[in-house]
Amino acid sequence: MKVSKKVQELAPSGIRAFFDLVLGMPDVISLGVGEPDFVTPWHIREKAIYSLEKGYTSYTSNKGMPELRKAIAHFLEKRYGLSYDPEEEILITVGVSEALDLAFRAILDPGDKILIPEPSYVSYGPVVDLAGGKPVYLKTHVDNGFKIAPRQLAETARKGALGLLLNYPANPTGASYTKSELQELANVCVKNDLMVVSDEIYDELTYDFDHTPLATLKGMKNRVVYLNGFSKAYAMTGFRLGWACGPAAVIAAMTKIHQYTMLCASITGQMAALEALKSGFKDVVEMKREYMRRRRFMVESLNELGMTCHNPEGAFYVFPSIQSTGLSSLDFAKKLLQKQRVALVPGVAFGPSAEGFVRMSYASAYENLKEAIVRIKNFLKDT
Ligand SMILES: Cc1ncc(COP(=O)(O)O)c(C=O)c1O
Repeated sequence: MKVSKKVQELAPSGIRAFFDLVLGMPDVISLGVGEPDFVTPWHIREKAIYSLEKGYTSYTSNKGMPELRKAIAHFLEKRYGLSYDPEEEILITVGVSEALDLAFRAILDPGDKILIPEPSYVSYGPVVDLAGGKPVYLKTHVDNGFKIAPRQLAETARKGALGLLLNYPANPTGASYTKSELQELANVCVKNDLMVVSDEIYDELTYDFDHTPLATLKGMKNRVVYLNGFSKAYAMTGFRLGWACGPAAVIAAMTKIHQYTMLCASITGQMAALEALKSGFKDVVEMKREYMRRRRFMVESLNELGMTCHNPEGAFYVFPSIQSTGLSSLDFAKKLLQKQRVALVPGVAFGPSAEGFVRMSYASAYENLKEAIVRIKNFLKDT
């Protein structure tokens, strides 16, 4: 059967290709996957179960349940002073993954350029590409904490681009931006008339300063599509629930595509999400405290082993250098897996700027992390 040229040309995810090697291997400590090791808090699961018992098994409104959209609007107002109309400016999606796809299909015409800081989350380039756009990568460097510099953004934007895809805290580097750093980027966006799709899915996992949504900054609300969801903060990856907020015209365009392709997000997930928002921050705060403890352990241990590791400001990944080993990131990852049964992701999966680095997720039990460090130490001794 025929497969489109575009899809044939699309490179498979570097993460998937590597993790096919892990399948079926015994005694592996996996620091590879980007999802919380916590189970969704019980009261949220209970609400989902209860909704099924009560017979909530239907479709919902295409945009998502009105109560959930209102709860998100209320939450954003209270948390960040960010106001969106739940009728026209909020769409409930099947995770931030669907929201990314919808956002680019809604705004791009063929060949429109989208600037993407790199190393980047593996989906970004392909999603822009599949929507007919052209990803243009902005290289970042460890010396600058893997952040884009305003001047770099301005120089590239001047060559012509429709928009920027910003993700902070970032997967895979953990880099984030303070309010003043963001304001400088925002000024460049306004000056160069850039739209921004802002993936802030790790906002609650910001450790060293308060998270600032880009849309709260001067001149930004009308040019930002703000994406967030329940997967990371509430350990709800399997519920597949996210949301998009933005100017009414863009949300209407996204809703049009969503209603033909997805119809709506699952009602069980929406019921669970409603409970998550109602319950406040207790669960989030507890998980965050544990992630911070693990971050400290990983950063200190890796630096002691000579794998230079900057302090990630958010998310749940460390991104140490492996340059002292002289191995490529793929060889390092393959050899570590074969010899010591530790799985991590080779940096090159996130773009060429990430060669010489590896990504390890610390969304794994503290005891696993300790054992992984022992194994890595043994590996480095033999390398
Ligand atoms: C930066 C980033 N955006 C989006 C996603 C996908 O999130 P969701 O589960 O809401 O689809 C991930 C998942 O790893 C991610 O790291």
